[in-house]
Amino acid sequence: MKTITIAIDGPAGAGKSTIAKIVAQRLDIHYLDTGAMYRAVALKVLQEGLDPSNHEQVISILPSTHIGVTYQHKLQRVYLDGEDVTHLLRQPEVAKAASEIAVIPEVRIKLVELQRSIAQNYSVVVDGRDIGTFVLPNADKKFYLTATLEERAKRRWLEMREKGYNQSLEDVKKDLEARDRNDMNRAFAPLRKAEDAILIDTTGKSIEQVADEVCRYLTDIS
Ligand code: C5P
Repeated sequence: MKTITIAIDGPAGAGKSTIAKIVAQRLDIHYLDTGAMYRAVALKVLQEGLDPSNHEQVISILPSTHIGVTYQHKLQRVYLDGEDVTHLLRQPEVAKAASEIAVIPEVRIKLVELQRSIAQNYSVVVDGRDIGTFVLPNADKKFYLTATLEERAKRRWLEMREKGYNQSLEDVKKDLEARDRNDMNRAFAPLRKAEDAILIDTTGKSIEQVADEVCRYLTDIS
């Protein structure tokens, strides 16, 4: 059976994961959150007391680092060395470390392999930074979601507050700016819009509006 792949890329806080989840539910296919894989590697680096900006240290633990993904009701659970760490991945320090280790080509190659093998076996909506440009260049449909830095920071701040993390809006904004910079300026598979991706600016739009907009482009493939 032919599988469907839908790529959703864009900067942090643009609404990718929320939209990807809704679209996957509407199409009754899987949702693959690739950021969670980078976060899982970052978690291990922090747990081992290593420095996420020290490439040699990070690379040294890769052979013994096992990232796995399973699905419960088509939603993703992430495993680090056999343990379900999904609930630990949204912490601000993990996000920051994920952005640092994501510039390392060896890390990316390891995770991209896993992402491609999942997309080969399942129909998926995949969200990330390099999905349309590098991981799945032949995706059936590609989207690039963005929004102003102010709006992205506000959304992320609200999300973090709901989860019980007490970061100031200013700090969230600074974190996002730093992560955007890392993602856009790295040499290997940087964040950029694929030429054939549909650009959607989500500033001022509700989740439903954006999900509807995305789904309107999918009528020919679903
Ligand atoms: O999407 P999320 O914020 O969970 O991703 C965490 C970090 O992982 C991002 O800041 C980004 O640096 C990195 N990432 C990446 N490529 C992807 C997904 C995430 O570099 N495909």
